[in-house]
Amino acid sequence: MRINDIILKKRNDGKLSKEEIDFAIANFSNGTIPDYQFAAFLMAIYFQKLDKDETIALTRAMINSGNVIDLSGIKGVKVDKHSTGGVGDKTSLIVGPLVAAAGIKIAKLSGRGLGHTGGTIDKLESISGFSVEMTEQQFFKNVNEIGIAIGGQTAELVPADKKIYALRDVTCTVENISLIAGSIMSKKIASGADKIVLDVKVGDGAFMNTPKDAFELGRVMVEIGEGMGRETIAVITDMNQPLGNAIGNSLEVIESIETLKGKGPKDLHDLCMEVSAHMLLVAGMFKNKTEAVACLEKLIQSGEAFAKFKQFIQAQGGDVKQIEDTTKLPAAKHTMEVLSTQEGYIHNIGARKIGLASVVLGAGRETKESKIDFGAGIYLNKKVGDYIKKGESLAKIYSSQSEKLKGAQEIILSAYTILPTQPKINPLIYGTVSKAGVVTY
Ligand code: URA
Repeated sequence: MRINDIILKKRNDGKLSKEEIDFAIANFSNGTIPDYQFAAFLMAIYFQKLDKDETIALTRAMINSGNVIDLSGIKGVKVDKHSTGGVGDKTSLIVGPLVAAAGIKIAKLSGRGLGHTGGTIDKLESISGFSVEMTEQQFFKNVNEIGIAIGGQTAELVPADKKIYALRDVTCTVENISLIAGSIMSKKIASGADKIVLDVKVGDGAFMNTPKDAFELGRVMVEIGEGMGRETIAVITDMNQPLGNAIGNSLEVIESIETLKGKGPKDLHDLCMEVSAHMLLVAGMFKNKTEAVACLEKLIQSGEAFAKFKQFIQAQGGDVKQIEDTTKLPAAKHTMEVLSTQEGYIHNIGARKIGLASVVLGAGRETKESKIDFGAGIYLNKKVGDYIKKGESLAKIYSSQSEKLKGAQEIILSAYTILPTQPKINPLIYGTVSKAGVVTY
């Protein structure tokens, strides 16, 4: 078999066999196929697409590139949750402890920030001492005893994805449904959970820009999950503006704590309720969403959800004093208010631009080697639908480097669309896709 023939076949819209896909993935993963040929292969896939059989073969080949975690040593139903990535998306920090407080086992492997989107591990590491480095034994012990542990993706788990993703990132081949589905589902299946709830983001700050594409991505991922014996549901949610008000690592930890105490922003609270409720439903704890939501609200009001968060942070070495008093979390030395230059209703807050502004401030990485400024970020004082007067604050920005503030301020001002008329507000949740079919809200 030759990679040249495989590239040519896909370029000419041919259907690849399982053997051809296995050959391409295995030989790129082991370094035999060079980046330039695999980049051409990815671009051929980007334009000609993969069908269902090819996408399943791709996912299997990626899983086979590394180890598969066996979670059978953990008692009870293990439910995993994954977001396709967004701006201000701190749902895992809230949903994880909340669902664990309800009695579901969360054995989760998370990632770091990618491009303009943040990552769960970076956010948690803004708490002093918190670490995802632990032995497999410790990981299992924490899940069994506390109900939750969050680890980092290991080098042995789907190594093909690490290499392929890095190449996709620099060859403009990220936004392809089969490639995204294969990347996410290979990691989810290899991580060993019994059931999977996916939060598929749609909008300017997401990889899928239209609801039609997001539902299709959800459908493909559900098909892969179910085909591999894992009950899977995808919730399609809005990412046309950042989620909640805080963007940046310690700022997002503070907002997550507020939400776990029942005092968070409404959009973040509602989304966490939706995702968490589906996790309880797939675990078979309740028959309908109303009962599941009532249970979750009770766990927040009683303080059990926040107590679980503290227990989880402590078990992974985090300083609980910073959780009890969030003024002790890393804070940026310099701040600036971004003042509106116009008066009117906010129609749009370009989530991608806001994500980029947070990277400029130091909350994300400009290069692989960059060090995160944990206190850096943005707090949005106004969201879509709000009215603003000229000179009022749209957002407050934070950075340890004062010279970064001006550039970020300009990006944020350009992200806001302000008009005299009232805007049409996008739904927060568009619907779900599961083996039972599509439900639109
Ligand atoms: N997240 C992933 O892990 N992979 C993708 O391809 C896109 C988002």
